[in-house]
Amino acid sequence: MTVDTTSLNRKRNFFTSGQTLWVFGYGSLIWKAEFPFHERRPAHIEGWERRFWQGSHDHRGTPQAPGRVATLVESPGAVCQGMAYRIDADTLGPLDYREKNGYLRERVILHFHDGSHAEGLIYLATEDNAAFLGDAPLDAIARQIATAHGPSGANRDYLLHLAEALENLGAQDEHVSALAARVRSIKET
Ligand code: SIN
Repeated sequence: MTVDTTSLNRKRNFFTSGQTLWVFGYGSLIWKAEFPFHERRPAHIEGWERRFWQGSHDHRGTPQAPGRVATLVESPGAVCQGMAYRIDADTLGPLDYREKNGYLRERVILHFHDGSHAEGLIYLATEDNAAFLGDAPLDAIARQIATAHGPSGANRDYLLHLAEALENLGAQDEHVSALAARVRSIKET
């Protein structure tokens, strides 16, 4: 199953062209910044929680055996820690391609550690995209992550790199740490 959001995202131009813009990463964009940026700063967004509810058919799984990767769900009062990148608008092209399996550009307010804030973008996979898998018992999610592989590598590496990156940021995320503990206890296949 693939849902290519590239062309939809091209129309989601929320910022004046020519200016640089902030993108907030909460999943692989935290620890795998393989795109040019002017600066990066730890930041958080409010009202969102990270969940491994998005299917990955193109990076960490296959159409036959999808993996699970991070998306965000709305949760009043929640705080989601991540990394903000100030990029040129041209960099959205490669990011749209990378996030094409169901993620759409959305506008959010980013809060920096010095108390300042800025408007920016996230790539969000909502329940109405065809790759969305949704909630499941934590053990089932962990088993799926522990066994899935795709062109970008093992699904477990995505989760464990994210858990490590969040730890380095000093960020607490119970969903991610509970999954990481379970996946570490499952033998690598
Ligand atoms: C993100 O990292 O912000 C989006 C989801 C992903 O690419 O893992």
